[in-house]
Amino acid sequence: MIAPHGGTLVNRIIEGGERDALLKSAQRLPKLELDAWGLSDVEMIAIGGFSPLTGFLGKADYESVVTKRRLANGLVWTIPVTLAVPAAQAQALKGDVALTSGGTIIAVLHQAEAYAPDKTKEAEQVFRTTESAHPGVARLQAIGDTYLGGRLSVLNRPKAPTFAPYRLDPKDTRALFEQRGWRRIVAFQTRNPIHRAHEYIQKCALEICDGMLLHPIVGETKGDDVPAAVRMKCYEVLLANYYPKDRVVLAVNPASMRYGGPREAVFHALIRKNYGCTHFIVGRDHAGVGKYYGTYDAQKIFEDFTAEEIGITPLNFENTAFCTVCGGMVSSKTCPHPAEKHVSLSGTKVRELLQAGTPPPLEISRPEVAAVLIEAMRGQAAAAAR
Ligand code: ADX
Repeated sequence: MIAPHGGTLVNRIIEGGERDALLKSAQRLPKLELDAWGLSDVEMIAIGGFSPLTGFLGKADYESVVTKRRLANGLVWTIPVTLAVPAAQAQALKGDVALTSGGTIIAVLHQAEAYAPDKTKEAEQVFRTTESAHPGVARLQAIGDTYLGGRLSVLNRPKAPTFAPYRLDPKDTRALFEQRGWRRIVAFQTRNPIHRAHEYIQKCALEICDGMLLHPIVGETKGDDVPAAVRMKCYEVLLANYYPKDRVVLAVNPASMRYGGPREAVFHALIRKNYGCTHFIVGRDHAGVGKYYGTYDAQKIFEDFTAEEIGITPLNFENTAFCTVCGGMVSSKTCPHPAEKHVSLSGTKVRELLQAGTPPPLEISRPEVAAVLIEAMRGQAAAAAR
């Protein structure tokens, strides 16, 4: 079994007598209410999805991650995982802080270290832009100006009312892979409804691996992304109709989407290593948004690190589409025909078709998936009309 990033699978969920004692003392601590994003970060830290992180980044780690793409100890880490509060509120948040959700104590942040981030630098380095049209930059501008770092003790795991059967922690997926006897396990990150190009690159990877972890992100995503519940239905119908049951594990990734392109591709890969995967699919413009990153920047970034430092092996895929001459899914590596022979529709065009109740061509989307999306759009339209 592949080692987690940094060597140890973190578990910050405190139980038994230690939990009782901490919970009691936490009642007297200054409180900070978490938003959905903060909760998803706490969850990922608690279960070891963000191993080796045991809490939110302190100043030294934060600055090192922003400028060097490494924690202060040199370990590769490309995305700052931070807890922001308004500067005025930070005054009252010293020592240990109780993190709450709906008033319930979720965790204790130990010895909170408050510091002022250089958000412009963070945006430039992490997102390669300071434009607020970038959703990651917009979020940075919206959150508080003080970051709190510190180790977490999670006392009440954030409640997850959705996707219960698919809530597998890194220790669970590791046990499952072991049980199934899988040695080469490819992970697939996604935040979009599954389409034929996704299916093709997954199946290419499956040809050389024992199994796949289909691992859609269900934390916070930008407003115009398809809701996780709809995407999950798409994965369910696709798996039921087109994949062998014993080769795929569908589980949700509770993290929030950063839209950090190349840096987030490395982050995504390290998370999946923590879940026990050995290979990670990186296609075109992975975790990209708008035109902020080059089509293959998210593949090139892996060359900046040694294979040992990353540990999980990226599997790179070119832009793929259905070729009407070849009669199958192709990329420029496998097909000599010009682009006009390839069936490709913009996301906007696909959305228009679905909104009109018309399934996109078979070469773009499986009919079962299109049916789920059309149904969801009808529901949205009806809700908006009410
Ligand atoms: S992402 O933000 O999670 O990367 P998405 O869910 O669309 O977005 O993509 C999931 C994975 O599939 C990413 O690795 C992405 O690069 C890859 N991908 C999506 N569409 C294509 C395509 N047409 N050709 C090759 N790779 C693709």
